[in-house]
Amino acid sequence: MKNPLLEKSKVVCPICGTIRSKPIGEHIRTEHGEQAFIQAVLDAKRAGVNDAEIGERFGITFRQLEHIVTKAYGMNLSVLSRPKRIRSWAPPSFQLETTTVWSFKQRGNWATHDGRYRGNWSPYIPRNLILRYTQPGDLVLDPFVGGGTTAVEAKLLGRKCIARDINPACVELTLENLRFSPPHTLFSESAVYEPEVSVGDARHLHGIADNSVDLICAHPPYASIISYTSSIDGDLSQLSVPEFLREMGAVAAECYRVLKPGRKCAVLIGDTRQRKHIVPIGFETVGVFLRAGFRLSEMVIKRQHNCKTTGFWCERSVKHNFLLLAHEYLPIFEKPVSGMVPEANAVIPSPVAVRIQPPAKSVASPETTTVWVFPPEELEGLTSANIAQRYGGHLIGHVPNRSTTVTLEDYTREVQVLVADVLRTSQPGEFIVIQARDFRAGKYVLPVAKAVVDALGQNPHLWIKEIVITAPNDSSAEPIEDNLRIVHQYLLVYEVVQ
Ligand SMILES: C[S@@+](CC[C@H](N)C(=O)[O-])C[C@H]1O[C@@H](n2cnc3c(N)ncnc32)[C@H](O)[C@@H]1O
Repeated sequence: MKNPLLEKSKVVCPICGTIRSKPIGEHIRTEHGEQAFIQAVLDAKRAGVNDAEIGERFGITFRQLEHIVTKAYGMNLSVLSRPKRIRSWAPPSFQLETTTVWSFKQRGNWATHDGRYRGNWSPYIPRNLILRYTQPGDLVLDPFVGGGTTAVEAKLLGRKCIARDINPACVELTLENLRFSPPHTLFSESAVYEPEVSVGDARHLHGIADNSVDLICAHPPYASIISYTSSIDGDLSQLSVPEFLREMGAVAAECYRVLKPGRKCAVLIGDTRQRKHIVPIGFETVGVFLRAGFRLSEMVIKRQHNCKTTGFWCERSVKHNFLLLAHEYLPIFEKPVSGMVPEANAVIPSPVAVRIQPPAKSVASPETTTVWVFPPEELEGLTSANIAQRYGGHLIGHVPNRSTTVTLEDYTREVQVLVADVLRTSQPGEFIVIQARDFRAGKYVLPVAKAVVDALGQNPHLWIKEIVITAPNDSSAEPIEDNLRIVHQYLLVYEVVQ
């Protein structure tokens, strides 16, 4: 269809063969009908034309293209070509993650894994969870299995697996991805278990007994950020954020019911942005699972590497003062062995408010995403310089070398008092940046940043603008311990409003 002699602004109509100016969507629709238009879009997609070019050629948005593909195939596929041959059975030189920042530059394409199902998670995530928290023969549940990533990993690692999805087309895709026989050498110490894959709603885990599952790996939709089906009843990706959080309450209750006491439930979840301000779906979802009775064992930050950090996006990020979302949260919950466990106190550095001075000289390449990773020796300096340049205003940080043993409630109350004080001298449009860090208290993690966001959510003069993650880029090998080393901090950026 593509003629190299054509000008970039022209294209041949795939139906009547006439040369037309882009976009040709309107022409195809009026001259050849809606069905021909949809077929032409799908043909271009199947031929490997990239999404941006399809948008330009047919005059449709990315959302409309997703809708056409999802409707035609019953699921949200990024590419329509058939799966490829298996080239390897395991990731090269795999090592368990040892800190709270997980970053997989290559998403992983061993066995049948690929990025065809839109929004699927990197197989490194379930691999880490399964190897850290289960033994061969244990039972893993994925109630939102999508394209089958968790089920494939469970099968490769000799674990039993129950995999469900609301969408029958996902069950088909998962079964297709499970159609392999791994070489025997992979399983010297365990048998191969074929996962049980079926259509099901994560809010009602029918047929799964109470206290029967050893690990839950859950990757729900992030409300309606990506639409997974066009019309299936019960698809959580069709819901608004408040509706989504309400339904996740039912998911958390079911996960709690089926999990064995003392075992883990991990949930990958991300934030969204509305009117240039963050909507903290991640922290809200953590709240939903804590209210269901879970305790927080780990708070992992998963870096995303698919966001643009140069050129057009970089300029927009600075011009319109917003950061590109570059992280998701992977809270790992535990079902306590004995019902109610009282919250332990933690030793937390005392908060203090300071005015941010303008930077002595501007930062050469200011950060444009929500993850700021710097060499350990420059972490403090570059973080401060970036805050000063982008936000000015006030910072609520920590007093160096002064820690107090407090409950989470006491700590957030102290922060609220400081914020109220700062607000007395602040103008609308200014920013208040709050530095926060999660701390381990006894067996569990105190989600300090989430608690601060919850507490300040009540304040009518503050509108949360960004949640930034800062961390050292120190990738030196860490010993594998029972817990992950907490290496990240948060910058909670608030805009002062009337
Ligand atoms: C983020 S995707 C999961 C991707 C998966 N981790 C993978 O690697 O392919 C979310 C999935 O949740 C499914 N889903 C939406 N609502 C559901 C519900 N109520 N119960 C079960 N699955 C649901 C969607 O069909 C979609 O496949």
